[in-house]
Amino acid sequence: MTTSSHSEKDRVVIFDTTLRDGEQSPGATMTHEEKLEVAETLDQMGVDIIEAGFPIASEGDFAAVHEIAQRTKNAVVCGLARAAFKDIDRCAEAIKPAKRGRIHTFISTSPVHMKWKLQMEPDKVYEAVVAQVTRARNYTDDVEWSCEDGTRTEHDFLCRCVEAAIKAGATTINIPDTVGYTTPDEYFALFQMVRERVPNADQARFSVHCHDDLGMAVANSLAGVRGGARQIECTINGIGERAGNAALEEVVMAMKVRSDVLPFWTGIDATRLTRASKLVSAATSFPVQYNKAIVGRNAFAHESGIHQDGMLKHTQTYEIMTPESVGVKQTSLVMGKHSGRHAFMHKLQELGYELAANQLEDAFIRFKALADRKKHVYDEDIEALVDEEIATAQDRIKLLSLSVIAGTRGPQRATMKLVIDGRTVIEECEGNGPVDAVFNCVKALVPHDANLELYQVHAVTEGTDAQAEVSVRLSENEKTVTAKGADPDTLVASAKAYLGALNKLMIKRQRSKPEAMVVGP
Ligand code: KIV
Ligand code: ZN
Repeated sequence: MTTSSHSEKDRVVIFDTTLRDGEQSPGATMTHEEKLEVAETLDQMGVDIIEAGFPIASEGDFAAVHEIAQRTKNAVVCGLARAAFKDIDRCAEAIKPAKRGRIHTFISTSPVHMKWKLQMEPDKVYEAVVAQVTRARNYTDDVEWSCEDGTRTEHDFLCRCVEAAIKAGATTINIPDTVGYTTPDEYFALFQMVRERVPNADQARFSVHCHDDLGMAVANSLAGVRGGARQIECTINGIGERAGNAALEEVVMAMKVRSDVLPFWTGIDATRLTRASKLVSAATSFPVQYNKAIVGRNAFAHESGIHQDGMLKHTQTYEIMTPESVGVKQTSLVMGKHSGRHAFMHKLQELGYELAANQLEDAFIRFKALADRKKHVYDEDIEALVDEEIATAQDRIKLLSLSVIAGTRGPQRATMKLVIDGRTVIEECEGNGPVDAVFNCVKALVPHDANLELYQVHAVTEGTDAQAEVSVRLSENEKTVTAKGADPDTLVASAKAYLGALNKLMIKRQRSKPEAMVVGP
């Protein structure tokens, strides 16, 4: 939002790292297509810089950064690089097609990181800062330098490194709270101190990057902005390493709603926040906690009688922002089995989806099948269906059919047909309960050693004919993936979720070991 009352000096640049720090969090793997979709959404909502990945980390990361660089219309596309020439060269190659590309290079500067992680003397770290920023500047004039574990770095050394990075050509200086240790007052003072003491500080933009280990990432980010930073690094839904990063939707809305005390502004179109949150949740299969600020399903729900009464008299009694301002649409009874293709397309547009023709066709067929089984089809049903369509488009293992015999007289029995890389396979298994029988079929058809860490079911809407949404988390050799499946039949949803997780696990395996790709019995 830009209005004439906004001054440029109060403009805060939004640097989204959902696809890098967010995707790094255990279990949050996204497919290539999902990354492209998320990047497009970020670009459309007005994110200034998209950190699209860590190109040297894997072929998959490189390909994602490269294609996002090709496709992105407005945002700067950024890649991450450690302090090593090979990292920076690879990153430069990945961002090459971007209209505007940034290299983000980092090195640890705190005593504990330098001694134990890098095993380098401070003078060597200092030399690396100069060498790496100089290298990056050979490729682009948009270079960001981060001092990892900046909030636990000695002030004299921090100031020396920041000055050297700016002198070598860094245009953005990020001081991350890597371990989520700082407090708002301390972080505010840190930015003031650095900006006062570093002689060339006015030649760079300062940036905050906060982790949420003590639940203060958003408060710390805003304090850093008050201390003079003008870039916030954040993620949709606050996903990220360990407890996550500062949530984009929270920092943006805090500055919008409390502009009286936080007189800063961003270019984000807040009405797209809810859609972005749902998309990232679907792509990563990370549920959004019900009471999550701004985008949680209860964020605008008023349950108690006193609150409802107040709301009826005047919405401002209990509402500091409207649901519409963050893109929440009133849930409507949308369609049924008589709704046609045109109405379906219109609904998708309203919900913020832009699907390719073949995806649209598949989604419509699935919608018709759902409408045949479920009397009322709500917006949430359509979102679950389309999100699943997007998430499974590239799957190598697909569910063809499932039938289960369940009830009081066990053992329960399941028969499952899958298509694996175009080949149809079938299996029948018993189990200690219907879910166990279904999962035994999956294990027989796709033998694997992954551990089932989480199995969770919830209803997409209300009513006994509601779709079940199942989340499954698997781990294998320290790799964790999560996937969701939705269907009016809980057992079908369970099978889809389990297969979705196996499909994601195969992507992870392929990234680290391309030969580990043969699947099937
Ligand atoms: O948390 C951190 O320090 C990071 C850096 C790479 C910026 O993610
Ligand atoms: Zn981080």
